[in-house]
Amino acid sequence: MVTSHIVELDSTGEKYFLPPNRSPALTQSGPMRDSVLLGSLLPAFGGNVYEQVRECFQKDGPRGKGISVVDIGCGEGVSSVVLGKAFPNSNICAVDLLEESVVVGRKKAESLGLKNVEFITGDAAALPAEWNSKFDLVFMHDALHDQAYPDKVLSEVYRVLAPGGIYFALEPTSYTKVKDNLEKLEGIQLLYMISLLHCMPTSLYSEGGMGLGAVWGREKAVEMISAAGMEVCSVAQNSLGRGQHFYCKKK
Ligand SMILES: C[S@@+](CC[C@H](N)C(=O)[O-])C[C@H]1O[C@@H](n2cnc3c(N)ncnc32)[C@H](O)[C@@H]1O
Repeated sequence: MVTSHIVELDSTGEKYFLPPNRSPALTQSGPMRDSVLLGSLLPAFGGNVYEQVRECFQKDGPRGKGISVVDIGCGEGVSSVVLGKAFPNSNICAVDLLEESVVVGRKKAESLGLKNVEFITGDAAALPAEWNSKFDLVFMHDALHDQAYPDKVLSEVYRVLAPGGIYFALEPTSYTKVKDNLEKLEGIQLLYMISLLHCMPTSLYSEGGMGLGAVWGREKAVEMISAAGMEVCSVAQNSLGRGQHFYCKKK
C-alpha cells in the first residue's frame, strides 16, 4: 500500500499513516464503493470486516484504549462533541476563551449524556501550568489563525503534549503567497473577505495581536509549527477541498 501511495511512510521511515484526503476512497460510501476488491471480495473473505474494524476504532481508538485530548478554541463544541461520541473511551477537554461558547458546548454535551467531554474557559496562550505533557492529542479546528499570539499558543501546544503526542490542526486551504492563491484556488476572494472582516480583527483586537488571518497559508503555518518544536508529518487537503489538515508530532 505504501509503494502504491495509498498509505504513506513518515519521514522517520518508522510509522505509516493514511492521509485524511485518501480515506473516503477506502470506505464503502466513497468513490471506490463499487470496486471489486473493496466492495465485494474483502467482506466475502473477512466476514463483516468493515463493521468490526469500525466498532473497534469507535470504542477504543487506534491504540486499543482511549486517549487524552484537548480541543483548543473549541467554540460551541461542535468538534468536541463529535470526538466524544466517536471515542467514548477517550477524554476530551474542550477549551475556549469565550465563556458564552463554553456554556453552549457544555449544555450540548450534557444533553447527549457525554461524560467524557469537559468544557472549560481558558486562554490557549496560557494553559494551566499543571498541564505539562498531559495530552496525547491536541486538536484545533479552524482556530489557529484567529489567535492573537499564535506563537505562544503553539509553544503551549508543545508543552501540554505528551512526548510523541500528536498535534492536529485544521486550517482553511490557502498558500502564503497571494500569487499562489490566485493561481491555485478558485473562489479565494470569499476567504480573503472573511479573513479581513472577521479573522484579522479577532486577532488584532488584542494588543500586539499578530493578525495572521485565514489566508496565512500552509508555508507560514508549517514554519510556525516547526519553530515551536513539532515535526509537521503531513499536510493534506480535506475531502471537501476547503480545509487543510496539519498532522504534526512532538519530537
Ligand atoms: C473560528 S472559531 C472555531 C470554533 C470551533 N473550533 C469550530 O470549528 O466550530 C475560533 C475559536 O477560537 C477561539 N479562540 C480565539 N482565541 C483564543 C484563545 N486565545 N484561547 C482559546 N480560544 C480562543 C474563539 O473564541 C473561537 O471560538
